[in-house]
Amino acid sequence: MAENLPFEERYYQPPYKQLYKESLEEPEKFWRKMAEEIEWFSPFQKVLDESNAPFYRWFIGGKVNITYNALDRHLKTKGNKVAIYWENEKGESRSLTYSQLYNEVNRFAKILQDLGVQKGDRVLIYLPLMPELPIAMLACARIGAIHSVVFSGFSTQAVVDRINDAKAKLVITTSNTMRRGKRVELKRIIDEAVSQTPTVEKVLVIKRDEEIELNEERDVLYQDLIKRMGYKKVEPEMTDATDPLFILYTSGTTGKPKGIYHLHGGYGLWTYLTTKWVFDLRDEDVFFNTADIGWITGHSYIVYGPLQNGATVLMYEGVPDYPNPDKWWELVEKYNVTVFYTSPTAVRTLMRYGEEWVKKHDLSSLRLLGSVGEPINPEAWRWYFKNVGRSQLPIVDTWWQTETGGIMISATPGLGNYMLKPSANGLPLPGVDADVFNDEGKPTKPREKGYIVIKRPWPGMLAGVWGDPERYIKTYFSKFQGVYYPGDYAVKDEDGFFYILGRADEVLKIAGHRIGTREIEDVLISHPAVAESAVIGIPDPVRGEVAVAAVVLKQGYQPSDELRKTLIEYVRNNLGPIVVFGGLYFVSKLPKTRSGKIMRRVVRSVISGQTLGDTTTLEDETSVEELKKIAEEFSKEIQSQKNQQ
Ligand code: PRX
Repeated sequence: MAENLPFEERYYQPPYKQLYKESLEEPEKFWRKMAEEIEWFSPFQKVLDESNAPFYRWFIGGKVNITYNALDRHLKTKGNKVAIYWENEKGESRSLTYSQLYNEVNRFAKILQDLGVQKGDRVLIYLPLMPELPIAMLACARIGAIHSVVFSGFSTQAVVDRINDAKAKLVITTSNTMRRGKRVELKRIIDEAVSQTPTVEKVLVIKRDEEIELNEERDVLYQDLIKRMGYKKVEPEMTDATDPLFILYTSGTTGKPKGIYHLHGGYGLWTYLTTKWVFDLRDEDVFFNTADIGWITGHSYIVYGPLQNGATVLMYEGVPDYPNPDKWWELVEKYNVTVFYTSPTAVRTLMRYGEEWVKKHDLSSLRLLGSVGEPINPEAWRWYFKNVGRSQLPIVDTWWQTETGGIMISATPGLGNYMLKPSANGLPLPGVDADVFNDEGKPTKPREKGYIVIKRPWPGMLAGVWGDPERYIKTYFSKFQGVYYPGDYAVKDEDGFFYILGRADEVLKIAGHRIGTREIEDVLISHPAVAESAVIGIPDPVRGEVAVAAVVLKQGYQPSDELRKTLIEYVRNNLGPIVVFGGLYFVSKLPKTRSGKIMRRVVRSVISGQTLGDTTTLEDETSVEELKKIAEEFSKEIQSQKNQQ
């Protein structure tokens, strides 16, 4: 009798369940089968090489070039299909079919070759969200060069550090971008930067308007080179699956950003599969991911994942609330966007303007929504669901990181799994062996808070930290032996659903942008007026989190509102406007242990107005009495300024 069968056999089960089971029980067979979905120039001999763990390598011996899968493969069947729609703040637009994109990438690749760029060379790309950004990335990948895209909101120092760390040979930039109607001079930032970067031989400049100053010896104009060149075809380099594809810098707990690098084979397959599993992209879909390509979200889900799937993507060069807070909804309506992927900060920003702006547009083309970058609070979730999703559409809350290459935990509509629970990210994707550990490295009980861990390698995982193998081991494989440590707090419930709660380390998420407190402290200390500083994050209703600094001034400097403004500006000029402050306080000394370690917990408690709580574990060198005294002194100074501000 059917009633006697277990639940699983009586009811339809989404393919997700079976696939997940297979992926962990028969990984070799599973990955061989999955890898058949992309094209290989020659097959791999080994699925996973663990001999040099934790430097895991995937698809050993296989030859594959991600651009072949993103472009060449679609020419016959999808040559005339739009690959990229693009629009800017002014409403100017462009579109590129797969064959046009293919041609552009080939010509760009030829230019790179003519400029002497070879396989393995690093190319730094500093471009806003214009079509030449994905074109330049694909052109690098096509010839086996390694791209490193720097978000165009970063300032000079950040560019200098990244060029020097990667030892980039070529920089690609453009004259400007418009942000809220104002010109941002990108070429000028590069001019300043390359005077401090000895490895850079040439700067390739994409002209956007007339006035552009060129340095005769160093700068080459893209338009000049293209004009002189007829149609050019550049065969894709026969890259190994384990050849680096790109470096992308991200913040960690030290002052120096880490160059996370990914490889052609594993990253290629992972972005291909996760796009399919999570966004369930079909031929008629238009996918609008509002992220900038300067971050991993854009790398994986504007460029590599969707294009390998032969999908149509929409890129918008601008902010969500300019010229009006309905710009995105206007685009959804105009381009018949079906799948929309954004961040909780963007949702909160638009929520503030009121739902009238959404109501002005017909969003009936949408069928799936996504969220990424930070935990989404219930209020924002509800607004997004009700207003953008017409109280009908599923929202996939995708948890992942620069390091994971692609989505790790989420619902998977492409595998029939629409299971959603309030506040949960969902279940791990096939191949992702996730768990939550306590401080002792033991699995926590259901709903007990701990650290999310990934217990076995997966194809999209980072290959390492560029030029710093020790940092890779120390950051990701030292907290718990043999498992990958992402640095996030999480809980898992009795059904195996994961809820990511936020960072467990000194990394902030300001509007979803990742920035280390140490990075900000290092910049503050480099200012002549600053002796010491401690930076923490506090909750912010729109941005999720903002930075607050406590600053000790050097002798001879006096606290003032003007100096406060100067210091905040100084940080933003150095690191970029992504650093948003919720306050900067002057103190005569920072709360420290006897051995001189800053007591961050005290700084945090005092600044956010909480009680000190249990201090026994963290500050065990300092007696309770001493601690109270230090905290009180610190608190008094902060309070008096809080009252004034
Ligand atoms: O803390 C987690 C948070 O973003 C971190 C990764 O940041 P980044 O490398 O810049 O990549 C962002 C886009 C993938 C994670 O360690 N995070 C990302 N997605 C979510 C999230 N936190 C909660 N829910 C999410 N969906």
